[in-house]
This record gives sequence, C-alpha cells and structure tokens, in this order.
Amino acid sequence: MSITETAPAKLNLALHVTGRRDDGYHLLDSLVAFTVLGDRVRLEPGPLALRIDGPFAADLSTDGNLCLRAARLAGADAAITLTKSLPVASGIGGGSADAAAVLRGLARMGHALPARPERLGSDVPVCLSSAPARMQGAGEILTPLPPLPGLSVVLANPGIALSTPQVFAALDRRDNPGLPAIPCFTGLADLATWLAGTRNDLEPAALTLAPVIGQVLDGLRTTGAAFARMSGSGATCFGLYATADTARIAANALKQHGWWAVATELAPPLMPR
Ligand code: C5P
Repeated sequence: MSITETAPAKLNLALHVTGRRDDGYHLLDSLVAFTVLGDRVRLEPGPLALRIDGPFAADLSTDGNLCLRAARLAGADAAITLTKSLPVASGIGGGSADAAAVLRGLARMGHALPARPERLGSDVPVCLSSAPARMQGAGEILTPLPPLPGLSVVLANPGIALSTPQVFAALDRRDNPGLPAIPCFTGLADLATWLAGTRNDLEPAALTLAPVIGQVLDGLRTTGAAFARMSGSGATCFGLYATADTARIAANALKQHGWWAVATELAPPLMPR
C-alpha cells in the first residue's frame, strides 16, 4: 500500500517583518496561500529511505533532507519518494512543504503528528494544513482564513537560489507595522486592492542580492498580472491574473527569458479544519 500527498507551493501574498526574537528569528505577519501546483511525496511501508526524482531533483540532496527529518521527528519509518517539481530555496515553501506532506502521509498511516512541527522549519506548521492562513510569530501562530477565490497565478523564478538567512540579514528595518485587517476576499479585484496596501518586506532586501528579481516582477506586470510580488525570501515571484488563459500565455512569455515559469491556481484547503 502506498500513500501519495501533494506538497503545494506556499505563497506569502503579503509578508511584514514586525520584530526580532532574542534567538535571532524574525517576527512576521503574513497572509499565506497555496497553489494547486506542488511537489509530491509517496510513502510506502519499509525502512526509512528517501529517493528524489522530478525536474528539480538534481538541486537537492537526500542527506539531511527535511523529508527524512520529518519522519524521524514523527518516530516513523517509511520508504519516501519525493517528486521535486518546484525550484529549491526559492521562497515557496520547498523543504517545509515536502516535510509537511510527509507528516500528513504518516498521519494517514496512523502516526501522530509531532507536537512541535516548527522544529523542522518555520513554514512547516502552515504547510501542514496547506490552507489560507494569517501566519504570525516566527511562523507558529496561525489564524485560519476563509478559502480564497480560485484565482489564476503565475509563478516565476529567474533560476537563482537565495539563502533565507542572507535575505533576512539584508533587511533595513525589522520593526514594521503588522498587516491591516484581512477581509473575506471575493475575487481578484478586492484581493489586489487589499494587497496594494501591504508589502513583502523581504522583497527590497532580496532585490539588493538578486536585482534580476525586478525584471521578473516587471515581466509579470507587463504580461497582464493585476498584482505581482515576490514570495517569502525569494526569488520566486507570483502574479495574479484575470483568467487561466492570460496566465498560461504569460508563463510562456516569461519562459522566453530563460526563467522557470508556470501557470497554476490558488488551491482549496488540503485538510479539513
Ligand atoms: O525556519 P527555517 O529553517 O525555514 O529558517 C531558515 C532561516 O531563516 C533561519 O535560520 C533564520 O535565519 C531565518 N528566519 C528568520 N525568521 C523567521 C524564519 C526564518 O530569521 N521567522
């Protein structure tokens, strides 16, 4: 018997850095959403092992991989196959999403979820439910939000892996105000209007390390995105489009620059609350 779980890409639609803890971790206030597109993990009974395939397999090592650490934290054995379809170290959850998918799969096999999933990575708690949420603290304080409209999204990455600690270190300020109140969104127009009053505070910091991110954002906007922003610590950017067709055409145009680009949608929640 094998169990398959999707590990949806995580998008920080907005991300404000509001402070820093004594241990150096930053306090965040973020609106997090997920896409239909994701990596995939397959779990089979057997001794703990990890095999990685898929388009981005070569960029990832099995040694110390978060999928193995997740199984160890859950005290479980499983033969894990990770199909890596999303670029690594790119601000869209990556290892955290994969680790959360392993934990969800192990839960379906009867293993309890670990008490402190954030020990694997700050984004693991929100990736566990893979449902829209306001994420605060260093990632461990979650407020579930109503489902977001199933909007068309393009993800685009210029092929640069950014180090999250380096991006945080490049911040000018760490004491920004939190997010404004989050309403119940009904469509692209009201979401884009609300997002325009928010920021990703990591975007200017990432731009100093990888100026090409500015070109990716311009590319999303000139291909018709109603809203474009970098996710997490980058370098993946997202654009929100009015239709699936315009998103698909935009993704094809962005690929002409040699960038990774793909059209997908905001996803419905994976696990019932
Ligand atoms: O938790 P995770 O392993 O994803 O974090 C990677 C690095 O990003 C941390 O070691 C830390 O330097 C930085 N980070 C942070 N504040 C957060 C999340 C991550 O400073 N809330």
